[in-house]
Amino acid sequence: MRTALAYHSTGISEKQRLAFEKDVLEGLQEVPRRLHSKYFYDATGDALFQQIMHCPEYYLTRCEMEILRGQAGQIVQSLQQHAPVFDLVELGAGDASKSFYLLKELLRVGAMDTYFPIDISRNIIAQLQQSLPAKLPGLTVQGLNGEYMDMLQAARQITGRPKLVMFMGSSIGNFTPAEALQFCTRLRQQLQPGDLLMIGFDLRKNPQTILDAYNDKAGITRAFNLNLLERINRELDGDFDLSQFTHFPTYDPLTGACRSFLVSLKEQAVHIAGKTVRFAANEPLFMEISQKYTVEEINELGSRSGFKPAEMFYDSKRWFTDVLWQCR
Ligand code: TRP
Repeated sequence: MRTALAYHSTGISEKQRLAFEKDVLEGLQEVPRRLHSKYFYDATGDALFQQIMHCPEYYLTRCEMEILRGQAGQIVQSLQQHAPVFDLVELGAGDASKSFYLLKELLRVGAMDTYFPIDISRNIIAQLQQSLPAKLPGLTVQGLNGEYMDMLQAARQITGRPKLVMFMGSSIGNFTPAEALQFCTRLRQQLQPGDLLMIGFDLRKNPQTILDAYNDKAGITRAFNLNLLERINRELDGDFDLSQFTHFPTYDPLTGACRSFLVSLKEQAVHIAGKTVRFAANEPLFMEISQKYTVEEINELGSRSGFKPAEMFYDSKRWFTDVLWQCR
């Protein structure tokens, strides 16, 4: 889950377009065929995701907001037990609406020095640099535009203070469990003993509740998935016929994997950037995973990637958790 913005981006550079083309063509040649979820978020995708977050079925954002708004005091207290003053690095900051309450409390008690929001969208970073200091007087914002690990290293070089890294909104769920382990291990390598990591995890719950969150009645999630095909048509000279793909979300309560597919309604050929991709009738195109965790799985992930699980904060329904890990 990423916090999207309503304003529209000004398009992408040629370098980004080439990376997009390469990822799309490679993904469509894999078995099963897949598209990478990071490409969901063009201007229309951002706007659609904003709408998903307001859907009655999509509980994730509301649950995490409840935690961060309601327990900012306790969270900050427990952070300060580990480091009295630190820099906050947020991976995929979006509009910073989730970290806002935490930032406010951190400033109030004087626990934070610099806020480093990291995002792959240059627009988002520019917007944050401009708007946040007015909303949070006294806040030093140093936005970093680029890939997470590179930018984390850049933040390290700017100041030597301990770091609190935040990865909120169940973005971790967009990795498979194996990828999440790899990601946390790499993150740990960029950090030092005494640094802290806070991650948002969506917890296992009634399977129907989870499935409904990815299959809203208003059809916004469906449009959100189809929008990626439209983006490919527009930016990569593609000819996907959107009416010939149907949205099919699944949730497996045994593994906690919630997956979104687009299923080809007929045998068809699609042309993208001069290449041809053939779909069989009923062939699934894998769009995204949103992994749901148990508390035990979360703790195991933390320990195995070199952290010491320190604290878990829950919403009142216990549907979502923001966890705090310490670098061992
Ligand atoms: N990745 C986010 C999540 O796991 C955003 C999201 C919501 C999403 N609904 C989706 C991504 C449907 C792909 C398909 O919650």
